[in-house]
Amino acid sequence: MTRTDHAARIESLLGAMTLDEKIGQLNMLTADLAVTGPGMPADYMAELKKGRLGSMLNLFGAPLMRQVQKAAVEETRLGIPLFFGFDVVHGHRTVFPIPLAEAGAFDPALWEKTARIAAVEAAADGLTLTFAPMLDVSRDPRWGRISESAGEDPWLTARLAEAKVRGFQGADLAAADAVAATAKHFAGYGAVMAGREYAQVDVSERTFHEVYLPPFRAAVGAGTAAIMPAFNDLAGIPLTAHRGLLRDLLRQRWGFEGVLISDYNAIAELIAHGVAADLVEAAALALKAGVDIDMMATAYTCGLPAALERGLVAMADIDACVRRVLALKAALGLFDDPYRMKAPAMTPERMAEHRAVAREAARRSIVLLQNRNDRLPVAAPPPRVAVLGPLADVADEMLGPWSGAGRGEEMVSYAAGLRAAWPASRIDVAKGVEAEGGDAGGIAPALDLARAADLVVLCLGELRFMSGEAGSRAKPGLPGLQPELARAVLDLGKPAVVLLSSGRPLMAPWLFERAEAVLACWYLGSEAGHAVADVVTGRWNPSARLAVTWPVDAGQIPIFYARLPTGRPLDPAFRYSSKYLDMPNEPLFPFGHGLSYTRFAYSNLRVSPATLRAGGALAIEVDVANAGAMAGEETVLLFVRDPVASVSRPVLELKGVAKAFLRPGETRTVRLSLACDALAVLDGALAPRLEPGTIEIFVGPAARADALLEAAVAIAA
Ligand code: GLC
Repeated sequence: MTRTDHAARIESLLGAMTLDEKIGQLNMLTADLAVTGPGMPADYMAELKKGRLGSMLNLFGAPLMRQVQKAAVEETRLGIPLFFGFDVVHGHRTVFPIPLAEAGAFDPALWEKTARIAAVEAAADGLTLTFAPMLDVSRDPRWGRISESAGEDPWLTARLAEAKVRGFQGADLAAADAVAATAKHFAGYGAVMAGREYAQVDVSERTFHEVYLPPFRAAVGAGTAAIMPAFNDLAGIPLTAHRGLLRDLLRQRWGFEGVLISDYNAIAELIAHGVAADLVEAAALALKAGVDIDMMATAYTCGLPAALERGLVAMADIDACVRRVLALKAALGLFDDPYRMKAPAMTPERMAEHRAVAREAARRSIVLLQNRNDRLPVAAPPPRVAVLGPLADVADEMLGPWSGAGRGEEMVSYAAGLRAAWPASRIDVAKGVEAEGGDAGGIAPALDLARAADLVVLCLGELRFMSGEAGSRAKPGLPGLQPELARAVLDLGKPAVVLLSSGRPLMAPWLFERAEAVLACWYLGSEAGHAVADVVTGRWNPSARLAVTWPVDAGQIPIFYARLPTGRPLDPAFRYSSKYLDMPNEPLFPFGHGLSYTRFAYSNLRVSPATLRAGGALAIEVDVANAGAMAGEETVLLFVRDPVASVSRPVLELKGVAKAFLRPGETRTVRLSLACDALAVLDGALAPRLEPGTIEIFVGPAARADALLEAAVAIAA
């Protein structure tokens, strides 16, 4: 069906719809296959048959979907099909690493590949929309949803936005294996005050435009079909009712024509925000702001008729929302194939292929934080291994906080992965202590196993629901008695490797003082154990980098590399400079940190032309050598700094990434390009402006001044 046909059909339907049916298209209710918000699932079938339901969430599985869709198509007056949404955030049945981990691969091709697989599996289960990608830049590890984010950098998050939208939606939204993407949570959610979930957000307009908006601008540019406004307010105006951002910016200035789906119950929560006296006012505020779909608040079904009567909204406002929802359904091909019968079936062979990609994604998401005495890799199988700690053999924890349709029993635990890698070794497993709680009785037996072992693998960290939504932690360290277990085991002095599982950087400097080797394993999904074994044994040379700064202590938060220089930059010898009396300024590990089993050396940075003009591009070349004995993948980061501008600029800003896989002894010229327009500064009116002057160029492995080569380019007026 052509776009014209769609438009004609939409107008014809709109002309035939009653008010109840129109509002029904704006109503989204949850089923009970997952609980992702307050309140119990409504009797969605009753609402559906009254024509008061337009879409659903948390329902998947082709047979059940077809049954519900059949009722919509055959048992309602107009037979308008539903669309079905679900949080396919990092995989559907095949689970990939959490976004904070996968971002560390610094590889848009990988991000797109895993999203494409997730879409194929979700579509086969009857889903037509995912509530992903999550694009909230976050610089506060206390916030549990940092686990779902791509970390602290707007440029990196914007590249992930583009890759994920491409991956989920494919080339044609009407294709049977495409799912509509929902860029969320628009916007600024990652800046919740004190890292406390759902707290207020109050950032400067400049920071909002320079840090929190760019990923959503990229998602719109990539064609995201939907956007979800965030729960939070911005300087007192809840995003769910924010006309200035939803209508003026998103729709008018950015030209976003897709659907705005509220977050769960968010419209009703405008009352708690204190901007609506009742559900009628809440419904009116959200509708006037352009929120098309009410997820689970029933504010539209309960409040819009009265809002219409009171003149708070016009029928034209309702019609505009209905048109966008019907246009999404048409674009998804639901009017032609409501049952998505052509979705490719998930055969065992395809699922095996997907798991192979999950293993690749997982090992490329593991960050080697520390490796003293080259403790890693453990090339020869140790005769006896003690795999200790609360995360040693708990497959379901590998799912992470948003597990989609993943099943715990299908995940590979660390112990299972090591057993598979070292079949002839004796591998003893003991928790020692629970992840949280106060029973130290298991420490002594664990120590006995450690004493008898040739290698200890100590698996520490958070359980998966200690981060994610509603997972903020004010003191994000190792929970429970894990510090006691870790100190006792590591003080034995046996060869040991620490595997850290978490949805955030964990603050435990004492651990890094004691441990020789530490791997950040986050939550790696289906193939976690095999991927960790690949890295521990050296079958894969760790290549991931931190997409978020790793603080020494929560007292440093918010801490991130792209900070402003201040008028009194740190001078350790001068009291009156920017520092703490009781804590270093520097993090434990900077953005981009990640070690390798080999050593890469950078030299001969050159840039051309020497002077750049608007519309031009800078060619950057640097020679990278593998100076070690093992092949490896190097991630080359490109940063810039504008030392003198109309506003103070960050000491570093990420503007490019390149990858190079190098064999031992190999040297390669790595090339990057930087568009002149990417160097524009937002002026006083927050409009991009290219300012003449010098731009410093930095290239290296991480946001660490001593690791970067420097050049410069002039910007001509
Ligand atoms: C949750 C989350 C949102 C998710 C939605 C549906 O509250 O905030 O990210 O997509 O509800 O599950």
